[in-house]
Amino acid sequence: MACGGGTIAIPLAGRVKSITAVDFSQQMLDIVNWWCRAGHIDNVKTLKGRWEDDWDHLEIGSHDVTIASRSLIGDDAKSLIQKLDKAAREAVYISVAVGAGPFDKPLFASSGRKFNMGQDYVHYYNILYEMGIQANVAFIPERHRSQWDSLEEALNDQRWMFHGITEEEEDRVRAYLKRHLIKVMGRWRLPYARQCRWAIMWWQKDRQANR
Ligand SMILES: C[S@@+](CC[C@H](N)C(=O)[O-])C[C@H]1O[C@@H](n2cnc3c(N)ncnc32)[C@H](O)[C@@H]1O
Repeated sequence: MACGGGTIAIPLAGRVKSITAVDFSQQMLDIVNWWCRAGHIDNVKTLKGRWEDDWDHLEIGSHDVTIASRSLIGDDAKSLIQKLDKAAREAVYISVAVGAGPFDKPLFASSGRKFNMGQDYVHYYNILYEMGIQANVAFIPERHRSQWDSLEEALNDQRWMFHGITEEEEDRVRAYLKRHLIKVMGRWRLPYARQCRWAIMWWQKDRQANR
């Protein structure tokens, strides 16, 4: 659910019988379809739909496993989790950010925007607990590209953090990079490491002790 460009769907396709990849963005589904054509993958069906939709109406159907990777949105995570759980026959997997996730907080703040951290994984684990779900948890570190050939390349690499960045915001981030980038062996880098971890939580439906 909320599959994006197929980060999970494409690598999984070769290991399962079929996949239904759902996203509300046609652009994302087009990317999934492009990867399928490029990789001669014919067991991934794309479906345009939203978390908020009635999934029976969307005909998402039921699946051995349902997955929401980095895609739980909004304030009502419980209802999203209920939808995933209902659509799964065997197991559900969700992944959420630990702490600030992939954001570089000082760099983000340099734009002048207030950083809204969103919910830590513990928030979601508590919801699962309250739902009577005893989820497994594992953590996956994500490595970030942290060396660039130029300041502009460094800037372009950070753009994903800013939806609809204005010229003024961009100037402030550029100034931040100018102030902080250091040259190491011919390439530019920030003087601090960016730690990013994702929490993976999963549960098997028929193995819940106290549901
Ligand atoms: C951070 S991306 C994660 C994509 C992919 N699952 C991954 O792990 O790389 C979040 C995705 O959620 C989708 N999305 C956001 N709001 C949505 C909604 N209300 N219903 C369905 N998809 C949504 C976006 O289009 C985007 O592809």
